Amino acid sequence: MITRILLASCLWTSSLAASIVSRDQLVLSTIETKHRPLVIWHGLGDTALSDGISEFIDDIKTLYPGIYVHSVQVPEGGTPDEEKKAGFYGNATEQGESGCEQLANIPELSNGFDAMGFSQGGLFLRYYAQYCNDPPIKNLITFGTPHYGIAALIPCPTPPSLTCLLAARAARAGIYSTWAQSHLVQAAYFRDPARFDEFLSTNTFLRNLNGEGRLVDGSGQVGQGGQGLSHLENFIPVMFDADRTVSPAQSAHFWTYDFDDKTLLVPIEKQKLYTQDWIGLKSLDEAGKLHLEHCPGEHMDLGTGDCAMNLVKKWVGDM
Ligand SMILES: *[C@@H]1O[C@H](CO)[C@@H](O)[C@H](O)[C@H]1NC(C)=O
Repeated sequence: MITRILLASCLWTSSLAASIVSRDQLVLSTIETKHRPLVIWHGLGDTALSDGISEFIDDIKTLYPGIYVHSVQVPEGGTPDEEKKAGFYGNATEQGESGCEQLANIPELSNGFDAMGFSQGGLFLRYYAQYCNDPPIKNLITFGTPHYGIAALIPCPTPPSLTCLLAARAARAGIYSTWAQSHLVQAAYFRDPARFDEFLSTNTFLRNLNGEGRLVDGSGQVGQGGQGLSHLENFIPVMFDADRTVSPAQSAHFWTYDFDDKTLLVPIEKQKLYTQDWIGLKSLDEAGKLHLEHCPGEHMDLGTGDCAMNLVKKWVGDM
């Protein structure tokens, strides 16, 4: 509510100012009030321009008239079926790279943009921020993103799609097999603390993204997490408080299950990832740029309490 009032008065002030200055300044102020572009990366089982995502984009365009919004499509130019399939099947590193290429080729984004990742899509945006980031992300918001992995597969929806059932069966057959690691997207962020050695030796995507590759051989040369995240203006990982889809739900805030006891959770501030600042989370936090936010609902319930739109008002669309 406060955000909305502040925003309204701010808009009012700038339009009033524009009306009483000279024509040159008016042109300048029109340029200055252009909203920063936004990139969205959808989640598992969704497509770039599904009904849900399109509605969300429409709401954002109503809030910020003229804002440029791009929703990442993998594979680019693919059919909705191919897109849904790519959410389950594929090499996560290659999908991350294809996002890097896609965003680098959009002129509207060339001065930087805010980015919003839904669930699994947040990991790909983190890949972008840490390994590519050209043009740069300013504010990064992730909703229900399993930043520190999942210790159990994401359950298939009811009724389940065949793609989801088949992917789940393949995953159960050996999540840490070489095949699964390079062909199943969920395997790329499957991190079961009870099988941490297997994770360290076979996983590359999440392990390297979180800087845990340095634990592999002690040389500190493997998997440093790229340039990390400390370059962001703000990082806003959002956790769904009633999330029963991601295990553990707190992975959205970089929590994990304890290595020895799955009934215990290790909070972000107790993770080496944070205390040793492997990917810049501690730096961001100390600079007041890490904002661990909450939404009240189940996984990807963006509407309850107007949660997502309130975060959009606060973190998206700056000049
Ligand atoms: C995925 O693709 C990358 C880039 O082509 C490759 O280096 C890697 O070995 C593949 N597999 C995994 C598990 O990342």
